Amino acid sequence: MTRLLIAGTGMIGQRHMAHIRANPALTLAGVIDPVPERRPSDVPGFDDIARVDVPADGIVIATPTPSHAPLTLAALDRGWHVLVEKPVAEDLDAAQAMIDASARSGRHVLVGHHRRHHPRIARLKQVIASGELGRPITAALLWTMRKPDSYFDVDWRAGMDGAPVKQNLIHDVDTLRWLFGEVVHVSGFGSNAVRGAARTESGGAVLGFDSGMTATIAFADTTPTPWGFEAGTGESPAIPKTGQDYLRIACTHGAIEFPSLRTWSGAETWNDLPRPTETTIEDAEPLARQLSHFAEVIAGRASPVVSAEDARKTLDTTLKIEAATRPEGVPP
Ligand SMILES: NC(=O)c1ccc[n+]([C@@H]2O[C@H](COP(=O)([O-])OP(=O)(O)OC[C@H]3O[C@@H](n4cnc5c(N)ncnc54)[C@H](O)[C@@H]3O)[C@@H](O)[C@H]2O)c1
Repeated sequence: MTRLLIAGTGMIGQRHMAHIRANPALTLAGVIDPVPERRPSDVPGFDDIARVDVPADGIVIATPTPSHAPLTLAALDRGWHVLVEKPVAEDLDAAQAMIDASARSGRHVLVGHHRRHHPRIARLKQVIASGELGRPITAALLWTMRKPDSYFDVDWRAGMDGAPVKQNLIHDVDTLRWLFGEVVHVSGFGSNAVRGAARTESGGAVLGFDSGMTATIAFADTTPTPWGFEAGTGESPAIPKTGQDYLRIACTHGAIEFPSLRTWSGAETWNDLPRPTETTIEDAEPLARQLSHFAEVIAGRASPVVSAEDARKTLDTTLKIEAATRPEGVPP
């Protein structure tokens, strides 16, 4: 039985808590949240991490991004392993401090880029890595949702931290890095034309990878379309599933669409007709799988799928997209 604490039971913390409770191999050892109504009455509750007085093996940190580094450092000091939500930290220095503290403590810091635990993403990686479609050359990704205006009523989401870049595209950046390797070029253009908010609302980015591969990302949080990871896969209980593909990857011998995992192959040139092949795959809940993986890492039976070092690289690219797409006049 792995004893887990959770810090922060807001939007994503509630989901982690439900998955911990549903997993018979995990125990919810306690909940830390300064808001009393957010602490359930059936487990020990604390308003501050410093006041935790129950034994634990690990902690899930699902608090606002600027608190990720200080809470991680406090948790490592207590000897707990950490699963911290994305972004790993608010900047690269804070992320580095977490990496250094993890090395000193001998405890792991995992980061919540949970899509790597999605069975469809795992299969996509398998197909790309197998080379059956040849060498990946370019990819086009859409994340075009409309968030309700109330999403931005929470203080920390009002500025750049609430923009779809650090909140949403960071997941896509992590997936693209996982599939295609390191990013060596970032350029982009962004706008806040619809809400006029002090943050990026929409834009486009071009990523260049060390392999020569490119990916383009078109994004907006002001457009109610069927395209995006959550809508395509049905992964978020808050976003209805459309099942539509939002990512297309072109390779030297074919192509693949995601999340359908439909491949296109059999054409040598544009004179030939590419043929589709469908794939069926059993879906599973990536947040739940991520928690099981956390328990395996704590038990010493697995290495982190997303380490703090890895997530720092994803943050680095994401911050570059943020800088490239910040609308004129919007402060960092
Ligand atoms: N993996 C994902 O898909 C995903 C989705 C949403 C949010 N997130 C990330 O999770 C984090 C939280 O986002 P959210 O939307 O759930 O935020 P939220 O504002 O809905 O909830 C944050 C919670 O943390 C509590 N809190 C604040 N300071 C705390 C502290 N020092 N100790 C303990 N609790 C504290 C707040 O009271 C609140 O209950 C952010 O970093 C965000 O980027 C990840």
